[in-house]
Amino acid sequence: MIRAEKGTVYLVGAGPGDPELLTVRALRLLEQADVVFHDDLVPDATLALVNPRALITSVGKRCGRPRITQQGIHSLLIESARAGQSVVRLKSGDPLVFGRAGEEIAALRAAGIPFVIVPGVTAALAAGAALELPLTDRNSASKLIFVTGHHAEGKDAAPLWSGPLPEDATLVVYMPGRDTSRLARDLRAAGVAGDVPCCAISHAATPQQSHAACRLNGFDELECGPAPLLMLVGRAMESLLCEASAASALGKVVAGPLAALVERARD
Ligand SMILES: C[S@@+](CC[C@H](N)C(=O)[O-])C[C@H]1O[C@@H](n2cnc3c(N)ncnc32)[C@H](O)[C@@H]1O
Repeated sequence: MIRAEKGTVYLVGAGPGDPELLTVRALRLLEQADVVFHDDLVPDATLALVNPRALITSVGKRCGRPRITQQGIHSLLIESARAGQSVVRLKSGDPLVFGRAGEEIAALRAAGIPFVIVPGVTAALAAGAALELPLTDRNSASKLIFVTGHHAEGKDAAPLWSGPLPEDATLVVYMPGRDTSRLARDLRAAGVAGDVPCCAISHAATPQQSHAACRLNGFDELECGPAPLLMLVGRAMESLLCEASAASALGKVVAGPLAALVERARD
C-alpha cells in the first residue's frame, strides 16, 4: 500500500471530474498528503476527500490567463518538498496527457526531488464510457489518436493535424477551443470525408455532462456545450447518429443533451 513520503512529490491523475473515478492509489495519497496543488478542473467533490489538515492550493490557469506561471508552480513543488512535506500535484485526467507534466518532471529532476507518477482516467476514456462508445472498433477504427487544439505560445497557427488522417482512426481533440470552423477546415484538409461522424462532449463523467453529434459537413454549426470540451471524430462514432435517428423515428420525446443530438441527426 502506498504511503505519502515526506519530501516527495506525487504527480497524481484526478480523472475527469467524478471522484469515484479516482484510482485507489490517488485516493490514498490525497488522504495522507501534507500539501495539494491542483488544477482548475479538479472539482470540490474531489478536494473534499483530501486530508483535512492538508494545505490545498489551486494553481490553475483559467481562460488561458495565468494566475501563476509554470515556473511558479515548479518553485512551489520544490520548496514544499524541501520543507519536508508530502506533496500531491493533482492534475485533471491523466497527469501525462496534455498536462505539462514533462516540464514539472524536468524541474523536479533538476532540483533532485524524488517524485512518483500516479496515472488517472484521461478525458477521452471517460467520454467513451459516458457515451457507451468503444473508441476502437475492429471493423472501423483500429487507430486512436489524441491531439490538442491548443499549442504552446507562437504555435497557434499550426493545423490540428498535418498530412492525411487514416480512414480507420478515431481522433480525439483535447482543448478544441470555440472555433469549430477552424477545426472543420483542419479536418477537411487532413482528408476527413464530409460524412464522417463527429461528437462534442462537455463535462464528461460529471452531472453537467452533455453532448451533441453530427457529420463533419455540419460541424461548423455544431452547438457544443461549455468547456471542458472534447471532440471525437471518426467512423466509430456512427452509432451516436443512429441512436439519434432511432429516437427521432420513434417519435420519442427527448430533452437535454439527446435533444441536441436528435436535432443534428434530423438535418
Ligand atoms: C489541460 S487538458 C488536461 C487533460 C487531462 N490531463 C486528461 O488526461 O484528461 C484539459 C482538457 O482536457 C479535456 N477534458 C478534461 N476533462 C474533461 C471532461 N470531464 N470532459 C470533457 N473534456 C475534458 C478538455 O478538452 C480540456 O480542455
